[in-house]
Amino acid sequence: MKTKQIILFASGSGSNVENIIRYFQDKPNVTIAMVLTNKSNAKVLERCNRLNINALYFNKTAFKETDCILDILKCAKPDLIVLAGFLWKVPENIIKAFPNKIINIHPALLPKYGGKGMYGDNVHKAVKMNKDDESGITIHYVNEHYDEGAIIHQAKTKIVSEDKVEDIAAKVHALEYDHFPKVIEQLLLAQ
Ligand code: GAR
Repeated sequence: MKTKQIILFASGSGSNVENIIRYFQDKPNVTIAMVLTNKSNAKVLERCNRLNINALYFNKTAFKETDCILDILKCAKPDLIVLAGFLWKVPENIIKAFPNKIINIHPALLPKYGGKGMYGDNVHKAVKMNKDDESGITIHYVNEHYDEGAIIHQAKTKIVSEDKVEDIAAKVHALEYDHFPKVIEQLLLAQ
């Protein structure tokens, strides 16, 4: 396989970003070209610094009102753009420029618990409140609507009534760490 390039987007802690970086560290056919974040103080920046990965912070203007980020992406020519805990809606100019090349991970079994405001612990709180006996992850293509692109992969975990919100979050994170890098790898292999 020719070397494939991934660009990752994240908004917060970046534990998925770190997991993906580590997964591909020893695989010469996949390179993490860079990590982009919309939070200047996001923990993901510390992780990238420690792991020696290029990282860039951008603001709303650069992302939504200009072609600045689009131009950076076009220059880098990524084989896949991966949203790993990224909370802004991706503008249409970027979606149009990278058809079927942008994927997202959502911490629930879509179409349940998707849409604006449904991210991170908000999702797990809703799962707990509704007394669901399962939750999981959804990896999907990104389109103009929050969490509505075609589903690529889902995985489930059991939830018991004793599980607190942080227990549900931990179960879902464990699924993310296990499945997300492998799904990324499969998508790259299939290109
Ligand atoms: C992950 O659980 C991811 O699924 C979720 O944010 C978390 C980021 O954790 N994404 C969304 O909620 C997107 N709607 P991390 O920063 O530790 O990887």
